[in-house]
Formats: sequence, C-alpha cells, structure tokens
Amino acid sequence: MSVAAVLVAAGTGERLGRGLPKALVNLCGRSILDWSVAAFANHPELDELVVVAPPASAEAVAATLIGNCPLPCAVVPGGASRSESVRRGLAALPRGAEFVLVHDAARPLVPAQVISNVLAALRSGADAVVPVLPMVDTVKRVSEQQVTATVDRAELCRVQTPQGFRLATLQAAYDAAPELIATDDAGVAEAHGVTVSTVPGDEAAFKITTPHDLRLAELLAADR
Ligand code: CTP
Ligand code: MG
Repeated sequence: MSVAAVLVAAGTGERLGRGLPKALVNLCGRSILDWSVAAFANHPELDELVVVAPPASAEAVAATLIGNCPLPCAVVPGGASRSESVRRGLAALPRGAEFVLVHDAARPLVPAQVISNVLAALRSGADAVVPVLPMVDTVKRVSEQQVTATVDRAELCRVQTPQGFRLATLQAAYDAAPELIATDDAGVAEAHGVTVSTVPGDEAAFKITTPHDLRLAELLAADR
C-alpha cells in the first residue's frame, strides 16, 4: 500500500518577516524545507514526495531536490492559499498512492514517530487522521476585549500535521469544494462528512510561525 506525502511550502511567511518565503529560511545550515523533506524522505514507510514550492522559487527548489532526494520527488508551484497549494500538490500525485500525508513544511522538526502514528491509524482503517496535543493554557471566549466565557479546554485540542488520508477520500473532499479555503485538510474532509480520527502529536512538530518559533527551532535543531 503506497504512501505519498505532499509538503506544502508555498507560503510567504509574513509573520516570520524574513523577506523571503518561510520554507527557504535557513535553520542551522539548511532550509526549513530541507528539514521537512528529510523527515519524510528518510521515513521507512514513505514511497514518494510532492513539494509545493513558492512559485518564484519552484525551479530552484526542483534543481536542488530532484536528484538529492532518496525517493521519487516532484516539485510544483503553489497557489494563493494553503488550500490551493494542497490542490496543486494532490494534482501532481500519481493515482497509485493509497494514502497521502499532507504536511506543513513549516513544521521541520516533526518526529518520525508522529508520521508512524498517523500511518498506523490509516492502516487500521481510518479515512482521515490528525495528530493532536492537549491545550495547555486556559481558554476563554472574548468579544470586544471582554471575556464572555471560559471554554472547557478538556474538549479542545491543538492539531498538527502531517494529516493523513486515504488519497481517494481527500481528493473527493477537495473536488467537492473547489472554492473552500480551510486552514487544514481535515477541515475540508469534515466539510465532506468524513470522520476524522486523532493520534498523539508531539511538541517538536510545532509550526514555525513567528521569530520566537524560529529561535526555538534553532535550539532544538542544534541537538539533532
Ligand atoms: N502554504 C502554502 N501555500 C500558501 C500558504 C501557505 O503552501 N499559499 C504553506 C506554508 O508554506 C506552510 C503551511 O502552508 O508550510 C502553513 O502555513 P503558514 O504557517 O500560515 O505559512 P505562511 O502562509 O507562509 O505564513 P504567514 O501566514 O505568516 O504568511
Ligand atoms: Mg499563512
């Protein structure tokens, strides 16, 4: 049963504020994207990769990746939204893959165990799987700077990537909602009525969003 990964790396990284696409920012000697590619390319259960690259850098990314990646690897230019980038990545996948993992390239330090957790749930029959972590802070609803409620955090969780799907399931969900813009892929599947399962995530799979996150990633990557 073949497994493909789509790494979405086409964002501009506004919040990181480095003036270049976030996936191309250096993290301890190689790009954030290279770290993410390595996490999947070196995973024993992966068969192929699609990298959705910043449009202006797609050729350069392809030139460095293809040939150096130990797995079959395609590079396609991304779109204006994350959802559009995922659509383009899915379109570049060969039809043969049974499972697809969609991953934010901005989570370069995702542990192999999280990838394994997601795949194990898919192999056990889940149609859609997300890695999750518990909320650590108290959560409140706020309107016009005033607290309106304290939300029971026990029923909330933080959702990471990779998110895993039967390829046919995710493709059908995206095809059914060609204009939908969602912040994750499970959201597109949910909108299509798909039941989404959860597996344990890992703090190391955090997303680099702000300069603080990059500093944290540098400290962690230095130990790898
Ligand atoms: N992404 C993408 N195509 C887009 C937007 C986002 O492939 N049009 C990818 C990013 O490259 C990232 C992941 O989706 O790996 C999660 O997005 P986010 O953290 O929001 O990254 P950016 O959009 O680059 O950052 P920002 O929102 O701060 O500009
Ligand atoms: Mg964004």
